[in-house]
Amino acid sequence: MAPRKLAAGNWKMNGTLASLAEIDRLLADHPAPGCDVLICPPATLVHAMAARAQGRIATGGQDCHARTSGAHTGDIAAAQLKDAGASHVILGHSERRTDHAETDAQVAAKAVAAHQAGLVAVICVGETEAQRDAGQTLDVISAQLAGSVPDGATAANTVIAYEPVWAIGTGRTPTNDQIAEVHALMRDRLAARFADGADFALLYGGSVKPGNAAEIFAIPHVNGALVGGASLKAEDFGPIIAALSAA
Ligand code: 13P
Repeated sequence: MAPRKLAAGNWKMNGTLASLAEIDRLLADHPAPGCDVLICPPATLVHAMAARAQGRIATGGQDCHARTSGAHTGDIAAAQLKDAGASHVILGHSERRTDHAETDAQVAAKAVAAHQAGLVAVICVGETEAQRDAGQTLDVISAQLAGSVPDGATAANTVIAYEPVWAIGTGRTPTNDQIAEVHALMRDRLAARFADGADFALLYGGSVKPGNAAEIFAIPHVNGALVGGASLKAEDFGPIIAALSAA
């Protein structure tokens, strides 16, 4: 089984019910994409988006708690996301690691919870600019993969997203060679640890736009993208879906 191609959108803390019109536009413009399409809206929109997309676009959360229920004000359990219609959940995004001091161990525990609830975990890794400048990128990515991806991960229940922190929302992207180097490392690490490590979908994320998507999707072991700003509008996300479909 080759990795499945996935165009994933992360709406972050953007969007209201009115934003779901973008889903209608995407479905109209791309009735039969040649890749999987996922959008992770704010939690307030998961249920409405899943209903609106009718399974033609998958819906995901942006985080979940490691516990199944209880006294955790403001948090969401994986099974609650599933109940609302989600099939995926982003975990360990750098904004969660920075804003909420999430550790690799916490991300791994959340991934276990996601798997138990039947969700696909989209686990994010990525170096800071200081780490890249210090020549630590490959060590950082290896350590994050080892610590954030739980032993029960499979190609069916886990997607890995490489998102260099310095490329998120900045308009800056690594060179193709830099992306290729990290994706090859991730493929090697997953293949060494998991029987189906060759089949995990590996996404690149960080300033993916219609103008650079095709070039990025041509890089070996890039099986799709995790897109922030350019996933908010169908006129931007649509061409990215088309580029991945054609890759
Ligand atoms: P941008 O595409 O806005 O750079 O965001 C990337 C990202 O963080 C997706 O999770």
